Amino acid sequence: AFNLRNRSFLTLADFNTREMEYMLDLAEDLKKAKYAGTEGKNLEGKNIALIFEKSSTRTRCSFEVGAKDEGAHVTYLGPSGSHIGHKESVKDTARVLGGMFDGIEYRGFSQRNVEILAKYSGVPVWNGLTDEDHPTQVLADFLTAHEVLKKPYKDIKFAFVGDGQDNVSNALMLGAAVMGMEYHVVTPKELEPTKETLDKANAIAAKTGAKIVVTNDIKEGVKGMDVIYADVWVSMGESDDMWEKRINLLKPYQVTMDVMKATENPNVLFEHCLPAFHNLDTEVGKEIEKKFGLKEMEVTDEVFESEHSVVFREAENRMHTIKAVMVATLGEKN
Ligand code: CP
Ligand code: NVA
Repeated sequence: AFNLRNRSFLTLADFNTREMEYMLDLAEDLKKAKYAGTEGKNLEGKNIALIFEKSSTRTRCSFEVGAKDEGAHVTYLGPSGSHIGHKESVKDTARVLGGMFDGIEYRGFSQRNVEILAKYSGVPVWNGLTDEDHPTQVLADFLTAHEVLKKPYKDIKFAFVGDGQDNVSNALMLGAAVMGMEYHVVTPKELEPTKETLDKANAIAAKTGAKIVVTNDIKEGVKGMDVIYADVWVSMGESDDMWEKRINLLKPYQVTMDVMKATENPNVLFEHCLPAFHNLDTEVGKEIEKKFGLKEMEVTDEVFESEHSVVFREAENRMHTIKAVMVATLGEKN
């Protein structure tokens, strides 16, 4: 029988179209079951470790709620309080946790760490975001577009507008390549995706029929697209000194109503992994506003709050898709 049992989930490049579609379909089934109150306990008795070297709202809550719904127990290891990466190597930590837990989630800086954890723990490891990749995010993004547009995955066209080296854009590109989709990266020359990421995506695209386009031209890049996607201009772990440079480079790439109109698609969706930088009434937001005079960054409030925006459905779908990844790789009944 077809299953993904005991597989790790480090990057979407490790999966083929059928496997990725299986996880997306499973997420839809689990969502329906939760709504109907018929959900089973596919992870009964499992112990799951959640390692977070960086902050999180959605990803942590998705793993915690998803695991609880399926009968598993989680242990949260936050940015401080454990020895990981300070007093103990990732390789040793992997062997310790592998002896106690059935599955491990890792969010941190280096993609290499998530690979080491998978290699030495002996249990499924799930990538909850690294500097390079964010594969669980993409399942939620694709599922959301599929639910709302009611189109087969391969027919959905995504344009990411912003920092072309962003971890979420990298992940979307690899996911689009696996699913045979069209994916545009609309970004300034200075922030085009690395050759390594592009080569990886194009090698997959050659097999699946996906089309990957990189362009600096916003109008051309968004025309005919189904989904316009944005992410923050400075990511977690990047230095605060980046703000000025990124604002200068990316201000013309802000997702405004004009950008949405330039798609020439009245049903175009707006997606964002969140958190989003718009009307940010926090200390950070106020500081940025004071320094650079901007209240909105990658997306205007108008677009974010418009009927095109599906960002909160997308956030909910993080939970259903992350649950599907855990059930597919760790569940007994699948
Ligand atoms: N989108 C996302 O990963 O959000 P968190 O950083 O809140 O987990
Ligand atoms: N690119 C962002 C995504 C957050 C979910 C970051 O890495 O901070």
